[in-house]
Amino acid sequence: MDKIRIHGGHPLSGSIKISGSKNSALPILAATLLTREPCTIHRVPDLSDTNYMVQILTHLGAQVERASGTVSVTADRVESLAPYDVVRKMRASVCVLGPLLGRCKEATVSMPGGCIIGDRPIDLHLKGFEALGAAVRVEGGNVKVFAPRLRGAVINLRGKFGPTVLGTDNVMMAAVLTEGTTVIEGAAQEPEVVDLANFLNKMGAKIEGAGTRRLIIEGVRELHGAEHDIIPDRIEAGTFLVAGAICGKGITVERVEPGHVEAVTNALASCGFRIESSARSITVSSNGQTSPLELVTDPYPGFPTDMQAQMCALLSTNDGISVITENIFPQRYMHIAELKRMGAQMQLEGATAVIQGVDRLFGAPVMASDLRASAALVLAGLKAEGVTEVSRVYHIDRGYERLDEKLSELGAHIERVKGT
Ligand code: EPZ
Repeated sequence: MDKIRIHGGHPLSGSIKISGSKNSALPILAATLLTREPCTIHRVPDLSDTNYMVQILTHLGAQVERASGTVSVTADRVESLAPYDVVRKMRASVCVLGPLLGRCKEATVSMPGGCIIGDRPIDLHLKGFEALGAAVRVEGGNVKVFAPRLRGAVINLRGKFGPTVLGTDNVMMAAVLTEGTTVIEGAAQEPEVVDLANFLNKMGAKIEGAGTRRLIIEGVRELHGAEHDIIPDRIEAGTFLVAGAICGKGITVERVEPGHVEAVTNALASCGFRIESSARSITVSSNGQTSPLELVTDPYPGFPTDMQAQMCALLSTNDGISVITENIFPQRYMHIAELKRMGAQMQLEGATAVIQGVDRLFGAPVMASDLRASAALVLAGLKAEGVTEVSRVYHIDRGYERLDEKLSELGAHIERVKGT
């Protein structure tokens, strides 16, 4: 297995271009199953997760072509069964359920298994499908949804931890081909949900309220093909802004939507960093004096849970005592033990991390456990004295396009060590 080796202490500078959003590309690729006609999606990042989605579409019978960031899909005929072997590699595969139910009035997909970041049920997705009139059956590790006819309904998708992103996407994709009007209350407002709704409307869907807590979907008989550009990846942008903060002399992220990253730039501005934004770029630099921060993760537009680990890495060397509370995935703290191996001082109290800032971190061999935790270890390695070796980097390749190369372009001394 590949490793990433970082020689820490080298300041970053310059600018970097942000790729298309993983969490937008996945449901949008799944949405192409809703029509027989060709769809062309641009700015699809080259990641193992988008490769998995292409495999699933191909397995379901779609013709898929891919060339440098553009994916063309024609799902003239589709199967409605997505088996374990294909689905087990990626939880987000669950978002083919909605399009298949909408188009074929039935779908069988392997139930997602356990996840290292915490409990991730799909009860809200299934509740939404049932409200549209589908029968739901879980057997033999598969979830089967079917309905001779779907009818519009009023559905509240808010759960114990707030709205669900992929749940909103899934029910929205089933509802666009459902007779009558569907109203989703407690909908997720993430930019990726808005991007999906925009793509569906380009295909001829009738969705209003995307970006608010209330979606109104007027069902149509069929959808046509469409062409779409995926939005920039706000979590990749946030990760590079934290890289610039943790050891930068001022870096600029380009091809970004500053509005989508506001919670992150506000947090950085509150703990010792200067932020300058323009229409499509953001520059971060040091204010010369860092300070502690109190942070809670929340659904959009709150502070994203997918940036929590990276902020732990930053605050580990900021002055003072910082406190982070994880409201979305309370157990999402696999990175803490590894950061402590690098000299960080952190305590976990339930879903809250208490971080005592230290003067310096030390390089060490560390283990990646999930996508964002592995990014945090790389960021800490950039700051640490000596060499850090991050193993299991396949986690990084799931969600970051060429992370090590991009950091190297900014001046990091970083290399990928091929596994034997
Ligand atoms: C999406 O996951 C993202 N994944 C995650 O990013 C992100 O962490 C998450 O949203 C929250 O922002 C993709 O978009 C592919 P949720 P999703 O349903 O949709 C609970 C990354 O690093 N819940 O919004 O699966 C759930 O357990 C990944 O890129 C239920 O209880 O997350 C969680 O506590 C990791 N029942 C909360 O809601 C349900 O049916 C929010 O989860 C569904 C969710």
